[in-house]
Amino acid sequence: MTAEPLFDSTQFRQVCGHFPTGVTAVTAVTAQGNVAALTVNSFTSVSLRPAKVLFCVTSSSSSFATLVAAERIAIHILSRDQEDVARRFATSGLTGTEKLAGVSWAPGPDGVPVLTGTPAILAGRRDHVITSGDHVIILLDVDHVHLKPTNVPALSFYRGQFVNPSSAAPD
Ligand SMILES: Cc1cc2nc3c(=O)[nH]c(=O)nc-3n(C[C@H](O)[C@H](O)[C@H](O)COP(=O)(O)O)c2cc1C
Repeated sequence: MTAEPLFDSTQFRQVCGHFPTGVTAVTAVTAQGNVAALTVNSFTSVSLRPAKVLFCVTSSSSSFATLVAAERIAIHILSRDQEDVARRFATSGLTGTEKLAGVSWAPGPDGVPVLTGTPAILAGRRDHVITSGDHVIILLDVDHVHLKPTNVPALSFYRGQFVNPSSAAPD
């Protein structure tokens, strides 16, 4: 039996939001060609050998069905000058294709949309999907990485807001 928590989901969200994160734009494509695009800050690396990363998706997302069935996924670690992409990909009511209409992209491996001009990109095949509460944890076997040297700092998210770091990125 699970005890009732002594806090509500707003408090839980506020406390978790005290942890500053980077911001990623995730794109995915299924074998049938369905495309998803959404903003994600629940990204983390998992394993070095083999290279694996994960992110979490709420089951209420309209991208959910496409993501759990995806053949290929690309994770774009956004820079400070890509806040518009993060805001667009976080817009409810737009399909993946509609979200992509506003940004510069090209087809990557197996047709997964790759956002041009992104400093750091990981792409690969979807691995396990683990259901936990009202989210799923999606694991990715990374087989492509792309790094474009830049001194533009990463976009950050902190206490429910985008944060633009003022200092340049370290070399
Ligand atoms: C900074 C930021 C981080 C987000 N991180 C996540 C996340 O990790 N998982 C998730 O399911 N939704 C996350 N979201 C919400 C989704 O981006 C948003 O629900 C979605 O893009 C809206 O389109 P949908 O119809 O595909 O859900 C985040 C939103 C923002 C602004």
